[in-house]
Amino acid sequence: MKNKRNIVLIGFMGCGKTTVGLRLSYKLRKTVTDTDKMIEKRQGCTIKEIFANEGEEYFRQLETQLLSELSAKACNEIVSVGGGTPVREENRKLLKEIGTVVYLKISAKAVYERLKNDKVRPLLQGDNPKAKIEELLSYREPFYEEAADVIVEVDEKSMDEVLEQIMKCLEESV
Ligand code: S3P
Repeated sequence: MKNKRNIVLIGFMGCGKTTVGLRLSYKLRKTVTDTDKMIEKRQGCTIKEIFANEGEEYFRQLETQLLSELSAKACNEIVSVGGGTPVREENRKLLKEIGTVVYLKISAKAVYERLKNDKVRPLLQGDNPKAKIEELLSYREPFYEEAADVIVEVDEKSMDEVLEQIMKCLEESV
């Protein structure tokens, strides 16, 4: 059953989940759990190192494991997850159980503008990050949409506008 007090933020790399999570946490007086940060803390190394040393599949198992733990916990918080989390069907089910899922929808063009110089995201370190973003985003979009209870477009919006829209959608979704 869905925990209606939690808010879960999903969306592609660079869509603003971390910043939105922090701002919402302040606004709604809820704590934030960032699954990427929690995985790094538990493993004692960065996600880039986990990908390099153990491989992506291992990281995906850690993500699912953590989501299962969160879904079993009754809490009242904001949960921000990595961009690839909603791809696994099992994870989409868990995300829905954890809370109201807010999808921060961004275009490939805006992601590229924000992340073209990124050095920490393992999936964007190849020769052609622009093509990689386009390919990954178009593959993942249906999964994000399926997982979402609420969709908020972020292109062309200031952070304040994004927050305002999220608050409005959350009010309407109760
Ligand atoms: C990933 C996104 C990253 C992080 C990892 C894999 C992805 O999180 O989980 O590098 O598959 O899109 P952000 O979306 O917070 O960048």
